[in-house]
Amino acid sequence: SYLLDDFDLARVEAQVQDNIPALKTVLAPHFKIGTSVTRGMIDTPHAALIRRHFNSITPGNEFKWDAVQATEGQFAFEGTDRWVDFAAQHGMQIRGHTFVWHSQAPAWLFQDAQGQPLTSSPAHKTLLMARLETHIRTIARRYGNRIAVWDVVNEVTDPAFPDGLRRSPWFNVLGKEYIDRAFIVAREELPNAKLVINDYNTDIPARREALYRVVADLKARGIPVDGVGHQMHNSFARPTPGQVETTLQRFIPLGVDQEITELDVTLYDDLTASWTEPPADRLVRQGQYYRDLFDVLRRFADNISTVTVWGPSDDDSWLNYAFDTRQDWPLLYDRQLQAKPAYWGIVDPTYLTAAPLSTRLLAPASAR
Ligand code: XIL
Repeated sequence: SYLLDDFDLARVEAQVQDNIPALKTVLAPHFKIGTSVTRGMIDTPHAALIRRHFNSITPGNEFKWDAVQATEGQFAFEGTDRWVDFAAQHGMQIRGHTFVWHSQAPAWLFQDAQGQPLTSSPAHKTLLMARLETHIRTIARRYGNRIAVWDVVNEVTDPAFPDGLRRSPWFNVLGKEYIDRAFIVAREELPNAKLVINDYNTDIPARREALYRVVADLKARGIPVDGVGHQMHNSFARPTPGQVETTLQRFIPLGVDQEITELDVTLYDDLTASWTEPPADRLVRQGQYYRDLFDVLRRFADNISTVTVWGPSDDDSWLNYAFDTRQDWPLLYDRQLQAKPAYWGIVDPTYLTAAPLSTRLLAPASAR
């Protein structure tokens, strides 16, 4: 046993490196580089990291239906206002995510006044369509041109069905018309915004083709869709650079802008492993993965306006809690906000081959 006497306990705040290239400057010739943000970050050192490296932000949860309109008719804008102001103050683009999704939706949205599930009856169709319109119009009128890009609909495809459309409550009540209406209403309110259809696993042929057919159909009928968002929650196994290329190539003939909207690269190969420290060799492999991915993305820069990573630093990744409460390290900066090999893979891959391959030594001496 021992005695401690007369001591101070202080939290040492993470220091943002100020002597490494800003990601947004490195990527400026190609596309905007964004990150998702969550509410608390505005008051932590993360805000400095975000300002330094990124020129686009996507609030990760604040614009979702359960955050903005948890109770019917009562709109809560504190969470969204803060980020819209932050983006404006620092000259950043802000992406709205998302108007229409089946997830993170409050229970009332798909219920009638008696709390019964909505059906496809004419009365229920009218009710749900009115809710969709009110929601989009109210948010759009509050922010107008300050939000440059909107994920108008999120995850609406399902390759298991011949029409490629997910059987969500939206679809079950309204049929595919809810997608049309969401884009039409968004365009009425926001003539200058980029209107995006966003989805995941777009590298897998079945879903890629489902999404392709949905977008082709929207375009053919004159529905105002401007862009396709590829979420890209990736692993080392997939997508490969070749698969990314095939996917990007596929959508070019449709004349839509493309975005990578939620990029992260898990360090795990499966859902069962659980580590407390990231294996050093995997951090380097992750750097190589980001390097190879960004090689492809740079080649498609003419078709890609923005690439967004789903979180500024590893402590703020949804992968730390979404599937299990294991830690993950999927992003470009570590829990101390320091650049990882993943960052160097994008900025200067020669550091990936420098020996010894420990994470911190990958930065040049001048940058430490
Ligand atoms: C995630 C958020 O990051 C988490 O904080 C939340 O608990 C669940 O949703 N696809 C999407 C995003 O379109 O909205 C999701 O974001 C991740 C998967």
